[in-house]
Amino acid sequence: MSDRTTNLLLPNPSGSLAIPERPSGAAANLQPVKFSLIIPTFNESQNIEDIVSILSKILDRTIPQEYELIVVDDDSPDRTWELASALIPQYPQLRVIRRETERGLSTAVIRGWQAAQGEILGVIDADLQHPPEILIQLWREMEKGAELAVASRNVEGGGVSEWSMARRFLSRGAQILGLVILPEVIGRLSDPMSGYFMVRRSAIADKPLSPVGYKILIEVAARGRIRWISETGYVFRERVAGASKVTWKQYIEYIQHLVKLRFSLWPVTRFLRFGVVGFSGVFVDMGIFYLLRTVLGLALTRSAIFSSEIAIINNFLWNDLWTFGDISSKQQGNRKRLRRFLKFNLVCMAGLILNVLIVNFLFNIVHVNEYLAKLIAIAMITFLNFWLNVKLSWRVTDTDKE
Ligand code: GDD
Ligand code: MN
Repeated sequence: MSDRTTNLLLPNPSGSLAIPERPSGAAANLQPVKFSLIIPTFNESQNIEDIVSILSKILDRTIPQEYELIVVDDDSPDRTWELASALIPQYPQLRVIRRETERGLSTAVIRGWQAAQGEILGVIDADLQHPPEILIQLWREMEKGAELAVASRNVEGGGVSEWSMARRFLSRGAQILGLVILPEVIGRLSDPMSGYFMVRRSAIADKPLSPVGYKILIEVAARGRIRWISETGYVFRERVAGASKVTWKQYIEYIQHLVKLRFSLWPVTRFLRFGVVGFSGVFVDMGIFYLLRTVLGLALTRSAIFSSEIAIINNFLWNDLWTFGDISSKQQGNRKRLRRFLKFNLVCMAGLILNVLIVNFLFNIVHVNEYLAKLIAIAMITFLNFWLNVKLSWRVTDTDKE
C-alpha cells in the first residue's frame, strides 16, 4: 500500500460507543457539514465505485459541499478500503475508515457516526440494494423536522423484489418476535430491519449504543430521543455484485439484541429484586407479629402495627443496599438515607390503604372471589410501589453533585 493511500484514511475512533454532541473534527481539520452518510462495507470492491459515484452525484445536486460520505470498511480481504481511498481525489467529500481491530456492521456504523461532522447522520448499504434516489426523500423529511427518517419496505411504494416464501416468512417472523419483546419500539416502525435511514445527531448524542447485531435502527429507535419518525417506501433490490454477509448468526444476535434492550428499557432485574425483598418482608412481619402477640402478649392492633413497621424497615434496608444499591451509593449520608426511608414508608402506607380499597372494590362491586381479589390487589400494589419508589425514593437524578 502506498503512503498516499494511508494518509487519506480517517483515524478510527475507539473507546466508548457514544456519539459526541458536537462533531469532533477540528483536530482533523474537518469542517462541520449538514449531513454525514455512512457506507459500511465488507468485501464490496465490486460495488464501491458505483455507490460512491451515484451518491455523490445526488448529493452534489442537493447539498453541494454540505455533506460527507464515510466508508467504514472492516479491513476487507478484497481491499475495499484501498479502492475507496483511491477515489478520494476524485470525490473530495469522501472519507474512508479502515478498521483493523473491530468487526461488525453495527459498530461500523457507530464508529462512522463518531467520526462524522454532520448534524444529520445516515446509513446506506454499499451493495446498491438500497435505491440511492430515495435519499432525497429521506433528506426532505429530515428538513421538515423529523428526528428519524427511515426507508421502509412496508409502506406505500415499498417492497422486496424476488424473495422466496421462506425468506419473507423469516423476515416477518423476526418482526413479530420484535413486537412481542419490544412492542413500544418495534411498534413504531413498519420496517424495523431497515438499514437505510437518517437520524438527527441531537437525538442520539451521548447515548451509549450497544454493538450487538446487525440492526442498528432498533438501537437508535430504542435509545434515542425520537418523537417524529417519518417513513418512505422503497423496493429492496436484488444484489448484482458481491455476496450478502447474513448468516444464521445474525438471527441469534437479533434475539440477543431484543432481550438486551428489553432489560435495559425495563428495569427487570431491579423489579425482581424488589419482589424478593417484598417477599422477605412477609416473613419478618409474621415473625415479629408472633413474637409481640403470642410471646409478649401485646394487643392485636399494636402488634400488627409494630410488626408491619419492622417489616417496612427490613424492606427498606435491603432495597437500599441491594435493589437500588447502585443509586443509594451515589446519595450518601444519613440525612439522605433518612429522606429515602421516609418516602419509602409513605409509599408503603399509601399502598396499604389502596390495597384495602382495591380488595373492597373487587369483592363488593365486581364480585371477585376474596382471595383472588387480594392477590390482584397485591400484584397491582407491588407494581405501583415499585414505580413510585423509582420516581420518589431512589431517584437517579438525585446525585451527590448537589
Ligand atoms: N464494515 C462492515 N462490517 N460492513 C458490513 C459488515 C461488517 O461486519 N457486514 C455487512 N456489512 C455491509 C455490507 O458490505 C453491506 O454494505 C451492508 O453492510 C449490508 O450487508 P448485506 O450482507 O448486504 O445485508 P443484507 O443484504 O442482508 O441487508 C439486510 O440488512 C441490511 C443491514 O441492516 C436488509 O435488512 C437491509 O434492509 C439492511 O439495510
Ligand atoms: Mn445486501
